[in-house]
Amino acid sequence: MKTIRETFPDTFLWGGATSANQIEGGYREGNKGLSSADLVTIGSPTSKRRVTKGIQEGELYPSHEGIDFYHHYKEDIKLFAEMGFSIFRLSIAWSRIFPTGEESEPNEDGLQFYDNVFTELEKYGIEPLVTLSHYELPYALVEKYNGWESKELIDLFAKYADTVFNRYKDKVTYWITFNELNCLMKPYGAYIAGGMILGESGLFFNLEEDDKGRRMQAVHNQLVASATVVKAGRKINPGFRFGCMSTYHSPYPYSCHPDDIMLAQEEDLIKNFLCSDVQVRGSYSGQAIRYMHDHGIKLDVTDEEERILAEGCVDYYTFSYYTPFTVSKNPPGELTGGNMARGIKNPHLKTSDWGWQIDPQGLRWALNNIYHRYEIPMMIVENGLGAKDRIEEDGTIQDDYRIEYLREHILAMKEAIKDGVDLIGYTPWGCIDLVSVSTGQMDKRYGFIHVDKYDDGTGTFERRKKKSFHWYRQVISSNGENLGDVPM
Ligand code: BG6
Repeated sequence: MKTIRETFPDTFLWGGATSANQIEGGYREGNKGLSSADLVTIGSPTSKRRVTKGIQEGELYPSHEGIDFYHHYKEDIKLFAEMGFSIFRLSIAWSRIFPTGEESEPNEDGLQFYDNVFTELEKYGIEPLVTLSHYELPYALVEKYNGWESKELIDLFAKYADTVFNRYKDKVTYWITFNELNCLMKPYGAYIAGGMILGESGLFFNLEEDDKGRRMQAVHNQLVASATVVKAGRKINPGFRFGCMSTYHSPYPYSCHPDDIMLAQEEDLIKNFLCSDVQVRGSYSGQAIRYMHDHGIKLDVTDEEERILAEGCVDYYTFSYYTPFTVSKNPPGELTGGNMARGIKNPHLKTSDWGWQIDPQGLRWALNNIYHRYEIPMMIVENGLGAKDRIEEDGTIQDDYRIEYLREHILAMKEAIKDGVDLIGYTPWGCIDLVSVSTGQMDKRYGFIHVDKYDDGTGTFERRKKKSFHWYRQVISSNGENLGDVPM
């Protein structure tokens, strides 16, 4: 019989996570094409971000400068190394490699940029964890095909993946195909995850123009693209390890009424698991098929695509975990905040400055629920607290709230490991401050490293270590054993 594991395994991967359009900037440098993310304006907690037709004067587009990782990557990677990272999650901007998505030859400048980044990571022994598509695609593909609604994108994505697999086959082992693919199961995801402009207005989060059938087709097209590149990648380097990536919201029934219990299960099976079921098991689950039937969704699926899905299963499961959500057939009132999920306010939970509910135990619940479904290795590739930080007069940033948040979540991870979960890595989100996806703000900060950049577009990009920087270094050097306070 197996014994209980009381500690993090020695091989545990500690690090941090980012995405290209939230950090890189340099949006037109090195012959990069326009990305779908480059057309999204800044918003705020009370005003939505908007997608504009073309770049418009007087608008502020946060991805254009990001935190200027494009020019600061050496300095940033050195800081990650100082914290002891063994893994760093980043994404490749497809539009750096194929500016419109349809060129016959890749853009050498773009390829060279990531070569440089990977070489720098190698210098410090940091393993890259590379997402091929993190909420962006060449904007030309949005204009021409309405993003992932079209199957044309499958081959174009495969060409892009093939290019980077061949180029980086000796530098990258861990790949993620799509970020939070299951976001498209929720209306908000249509533009950011699918690059689809559903209606004329082109507004981000426009619920009136939602169409489940079109979103589901875009999900399917991405699932086929994901499986296609997994299959192709394994031929290029059999040592590659591929992961799926979902956003996971532990679904709580608001009451013990059987209707609420049933609804919570349905939400779990459809919104959380529909995509990963296909990516891990190779086909749509019975509940997924019923969901499509009940909603009158007729997917365009070929036999060949079904074969591809069956042959392109992933090696490990990754997910983001921020907040649970509570559901009821008879919602009693106030809704909570969140970028992709909104549920009923749970009276037992505290919330962040942005109204996201905080629930470390929900992470243990999620880890168990997912692991005992799939029984493959797991990584938490996003988790963290978006908060306002203040620079004190002595220049320090005392972000004890962030330390407390992470400590509680790491303790929950430890409990899950004791429960038998095969957790292999943890990359907290926004290990360096970056642009928020939901509001486009810089003021919503997740990082261990502060970046001097603000919502009005001002700032010097200067980097500054927060208290949590020193704390996380201690966590990593003790392999998750020392979660106590650090002097600052
Ligand atoms: C995840 C995304 O959903 O949430 C990230 O993968 C995003 O890109 C993160 O930044 C946090 O959300 P927000 O809205 O606080 O940036």
